[in-house]
Amino acid sequence: EIDDKVEALLAQMTLEEKVGQMNQYNGFYDVTGPAPAEGDAKHKYEHIKNGWVGSMLNVRGAAEVRKMQALAVDSSRLGIPMIFGFDVIHGHKTLSPIPLAEAASWDLAAIEKSARIAAIEASAEGINWTFAPMVDISRDARWGRVMEGAGEDTYLGSKIGVARVNGFQGDDLSANNTIAACAKHFAGYGFAEAGMDYNTVDVGMATYYNVIFPPFKAAVDEADVKTFMNSFNIVNAIPATANKHIQRDILKGDWGFKGYVISDWSSGREMIDHGYARDLKHVAELAANAGSDMDMESYAYVNHLADLVREGKVNEGVVDDAVRRILRVKYELGLFDDPFKYCDEKREKELIYHADHMEAALDMAKRSIVLLKNENNILPLNKDKKIAVIGALADDKDSPLGNWRMAGEDNTAISVLEGLDNYGVKYKYAEGGKLITGPTAFPFELEVNTTDKSGIKEAVNLAKQSEVVVMVLGEHGLHSGEGRGRANLGLPGVQQELLEAVYKVNKNIVLVLMNGRPLTITWADEHVPAIVEAWQLGTQTGNAVTQVLYGEYNPSGKLPMTFPRHVGQVPIYYNQFRTGRPGPKHEVFWPHYMDESEKPLYPFGYGLSYTEFDYTNLKVNLKAKNQVEVSVSVTNIGSKAGEEVVQLYINDKVASIVRPVKELKGFEKIKLEPSQTTTVTFMLTDKELGFYNNQGEYLVEAGDFEVMVGTSSVSGLKDKFTLE
Ligand code: IFM
Repeated sequence: EIDDKVEALLAQMTLEEKVGQMNQYNGFYDVTGPAPAEGDAKHKYEHIKNGWVGSMLNVRGAAEVRKMQALAVDSSRLGIPMIFGFDVIHGHKTLSPIPLAEAASWDLAAIEKSARIAAIEASAEGINWTFAPMVDISRDARWGRVMEGAGEDTYLGSKIGVARVNGFQGDDLSANNTIAACAKHFAGYGFAEAGMDYNTVDVGMATYYNVIFPPFKAAVDEADVKTFMNSFNIVNAIPATANKHIQRDILKGDWGFKGYVISDWSSGREMIDHGYARDLKHVAELAANAGSDMDMESYAYVNHLADLVREGKVNEGVVDDAVRRILRVKYELGLFDDPFKYCDEKREKELIYHADHMEAALDMAKRSIVLLKNENNILPLNKDKKIAVIGALADDKDSPLGNWRMAGEDNTAISVLEGLDNYGVKYKYAEGGKLITGPTAFPFELEVNTTDKSGIKEAVNLAKQSEVVVMVLGEHGLHSGEGRGRANLGLPGVQQELLEAVYKVNKNIVLVLMNGRPLTITWADEHVPAIVEAWQLGTQTGNAVTQVLYGEYNPSGKLPMTFPRHVGQVPIYYNQFRTGRPGPKHEVFWPHYMDESEKPLYPFGYGLSYTEFDYTNLKVNLKAKNQVEVSVSVTNIGSKAGEEVVQLYINDKVASIVRPVKELKGFEKIKLEPSQTTTVTFMLTDKELGFYNNQGEYLVEAGDFEVMVGTSSVSGLKDKFTLE
């Protein structure tokens, strides 16, 4: 039925109106004020009224969206509603943990709920399309955008991507509290060389098919994601935006994707700098022919696409195909039935910061925390202990919100100090020196304090008088995110010096880390007895950290990305290809370093609990062809109830392309009371047992496999099976 409506509308559209649907503008004037009277803004305003704009980004607020939507609906000839896009990345106003932190929960239901709540709040502000989830796999902790994804693993990343799309899109896309999702960035953006944003990407097809593509494909197959965003990088030396092979042949061809593809911000125009397009007109020709359906902020389509069609350089069928895709999503959202359905100030007021959202954000934040070290059970703390809190981040209400918190309001996080206050903990606090001295507002570079060490003395004095010192150290929220690569992965500024100075006078340190990426905290791991990975946990940061420190919540997170010992090891990830010299056995001639271990500091999948889990009774049964049942018993052998992520890894011993040393192929998060045992059963099928060859064919090959089930990527019970 929707297809018939789309065809009927398409038949009435002029070429310019069709091209207009493929054009997206950024918000260009204060919508609540008078209409722009001159310049670019006036042109864009007129373009909307002419029906030459299909979508806006960065316009939000029920009143603002209504006013802008009315321009298109009431003034343009056909009254086609615009779709309003926005980066709703980890919550909207109520902020949940950064996506990498959420991934550490391995809790798909909680992650889906977090996206659901983000959609409820965003849609109450007039938004009907988010540029999320980012499903880029990333193995390089230097890359600033690792904070926005689900980490280094394809299997986990695919499951989390699907959960997020389901959360945003809900069961009924036409409801006024669901929004279209966008799988981005297609494809390979997470593999920027040296972790530097926008840098060259140059990886082989085995990695594209087996590592990079699967989360995108899962978003199409398992969650019916409505849109894709392409990426800034090149794919086999062709910019993704003009890459016909990945957009037309693979995405829209092989995978049968029915939605539309938007370019990234000016990724079309940037093809001129890549040396791939001569000028903006050439950009429009290349991008449209390659299957980029909507142009974000390059002005290529609106200025040139209609001429290109008249000149025969772009077939009108290409334009029709793009417009069909865009209109279909607008129909599915229900925008034609009511273009103003998301614009209800009463709903906006009721739903933003709703108590249920705050509660869910706290739950998500607790689940995202990873306990990295807990020598002599120094944690959980009890309230009788005399504690000092040290570190600028402990008193920060902004940084824990993390980057990509577009609608998030400044200073709305519950700081760690406030969390302790809320829990009735008595403490003394010393800042220990500033973390940053410069501006923090988007998009400025941070100025990190590397010189002023005057706060260290006060912190050391305080530490001397305390039984336990809680040190809250790490990165500022704007140390990660787009364009925020780091060549060093240690604690920024004077924090390492502060940590070592405090350690000299009091060794009972609980280090609470706040960061948007894995850090090389090797010194801390060697010296400090307890380390809690608290990422950037959003609005509820302080409450979540306090509840973990005091044992109200038993930490259950597991690392979604390997922590290196040294930046020189990066990229370091658990599922590397097997090499010809697995060491250590060839004297000096095996893959290792002379000056650092080749091992990670903390491996993928690692995370402790206040209790302990014992794995026994691994059983492997071949049920039928390519159906392998694997079961294991897990017992809580500690004294506290706790949750464990049971992880299953396989290794295909000999295959027609070289396979990784191991690959995650199943996980289940379970909760056990003390002494309780449960049996976890996994079923491995074609989907888990096969791989793509370099031609993109999916193969399940006969032969021997190893299987490991355990508590992390490096620890578990092992067995074997053979596929016929
Ligand atoms: O959605 C983002 C994208 O991830 C990076 N460039 C800008 C887009 C819109 O804000």
